[in-house]
Amino acid sequence: MVHHSRIAVIGFGLIGQSWAALFQHFGYDVAIWDPDSALLESARDLIAPKLAQIVEIHGDAHQIGSLIVEPTIANAVGGAWLIQENAPERVSLKHQLLAEVEQSCPSNAIIASSTSSLTWTDLAPGLTRPNRLITAHPFNPPHIMPLVELYGVDSGIVGRAEDFYRSLARETVRLNKPAVGHIANRLASALWREAVNMVAEDIAGVDAIDRALRAGPGLRWSVVGAHMAYHLGGGVGGMRHYLEHLGSSQERRWQDLGTPRLSPELCELLISGVEEEAAGRSISTLEAERDAALIAILRDRSDAHV
Ligand SMILES: NC(=O)c1ccc[n+]([C@@H]2O[C@H](COP(=O)([O-])OP(=O)(O)OC[C@H]3O[C@@H](n4cnc5c(N)ncnc54)[C@H](O)[C@@H]3O)[C@@H](O)[C@H]2O)c1
Repeated sequence: MVHHSRIAVIGFGLIGQSWAALFQHFGYDVAIWDPDSALLESARDLIAPKLAQIVEIHGDAHQIGSLIVEPTIANAVGGAWLIQENAPERVSLKHQLLAEVEQSCPSNAIIASSTSSLTWTDLAPGLTRPNRLITAHPFNPPHIMPLVELYGVDSGIVGRAEDFYRSLARETVRLNKPAVGHIANRLASALWREAVNMVAEDIAGVDAIDRALRAGPGLRWSVVGAHMAYHLGGGVGGMRHYLEHLGSSQERRWQDLGTPRLSPELCELLISGVEEEAAGRSISTLEAERDAALIAILRDRSDAHV
């Protein structure tokens, strides 16, 4: 029997823990499974700080759901109406796992994969009824970042999933067709390719590039997006004027962008560059600073939405 309050989180690493906290905050009972029993034993301790961060953004939960540690995949997915899969990014492993999930979950359950670099088409062969598979790709950390990118072949199922993620104060976008990197990581990769190229070409150092991004386009993109930024760049004539007036200058700039190879020398430059930028701060300190800044921004947005 399906319990509409029950969600299964399969794979309880970085992303699984974050999803579990979000689902719990919004009142869902979350059944978790991971082959690493040590993770499951410390599940509550791992989730507690994330629950606290969600409260900072969205306020107290109306009714927090329970966390249920399950001994097997079958136990975890039994009765769940949604299964969020967060296992390692290997296609054979995911096929095997999805097949096992499909065998034990209710027949009308939605199976959602968090996959970053695989597509719906890569994963579908793992299931006998792939129409109930969707990719639901979050941005790290999913309990803070609002974005969820969706793709599936059954628009009714994608629609149900979309309503659900929106009810958790997520910003959903749908892809028209599967694409490696979905939407957001394609944008991030395009940007980072040039950020790396500028280091390779010695146009600027790592720290200068990151500061230019944060103080310039990054700040602007966080409120208007890439296309709308140029609509405004065209003044009263908008995008049409911008394209007529400056479209060719964009094309010239595109010609000048690079496609760097990640040679050992370039990798060393990137590593020493971020170490200098971090100025002795550990990864956990940097993560805490990132989270605090993101939470402050999200709290300031009236509906905690983009
Ligand atoms: N890290 C990110 O920034 C990010 C962002 C969005 C989406 N994702 C996607 O989320 C998924 C998980 O990534 P992550 O960063 O949480 O990785 P992770 O390594 O932190 O966690 C993976 C977890 O899966 C468990 N696992 C191993 N074998 C398994 C199996 N057969 N079945 C179920 N679980 C198994 C591991 O024990 C581990 O706890 C990947 O598909 C990844 O592409 C990652």
